Amino acid sequence: MKKMDVIEAISTRRSIRKFTGEPISDSELDIILRAGFQSPSAHNRQPWEFIVIKDKSRFEALAKVHKYAQMTLQAGACIIVCGNTDIQELTGFLIEDCSASIQNILLASHGIGLGAVWVGLYPITEHTNNISNMFSLPGNIIPVGMVVIGRKGEEKDKADRFNVDKVHYETW
Ligand SMILES: Cc1cc2nc3c(=O)[nH]c(=O)nc-3n(C[C@H](O)[C@H](O)[C@H](O)COP(=O)(O)O)c2cc1C
Repeated sequence: MKKMDVIEAISTRRSIRKFTGEPISDSELDIILRAGFQSPSAHNRQPWEFIVIKDKSRFEALAKVHKYAQMTLQAGACIIVCGNTDIQELTGFLIEDCSASIQNILLASHGIGLGAVWVGLYPITEHTNNISNMFSLPGNIIPVGMVVIGRKGEEKDKADRFNVDKVHYETW
């Protein structure tokens, strides 16, 4: 499996929303999940939990309840990144930790040639409630975001977003 240099991966990653419907392998999923666990977290609490979905009927159920998750219908896998409030009780840290994990998952997916997109859940109560009900999540688990992953059905150019006006050297 070809793997990308980290700077190349960061600068060429784009949200991919069209997939071929082909499955992704367990070894690919293993690389992606391990990347999710390698993220930094406040006090190194690692408050994340991952729901891995490969079942097509669940993709259909997710597309039904989330207007912006229609790409799940052709996905190879979805990973719902959840935060455990028993492990990190400060919501701000919990969301930051899980977001760092989501970004690692996106980059790892791209780095091994797959397409992926972040589908937002938290803080939209409708989405978090739907996901909590659908997967019978315990009360201490917040679904933060979902990463939809698959074999690319579209290619996107890299986007250079560097903006010198937003960089403040030494002071504002
Ligand atoms: C918190 C968050 C929530 C997002 N939610 C969605 C979503 O629900 N559906 C979607 O298609 N893309 C979603 N995105 C992806 C953004 O639309 C995308 O990252 C942005 O347009 C920049 O494009 P790029 O990822 O190709 O660089 C989300 C991104 C973030 C960070």
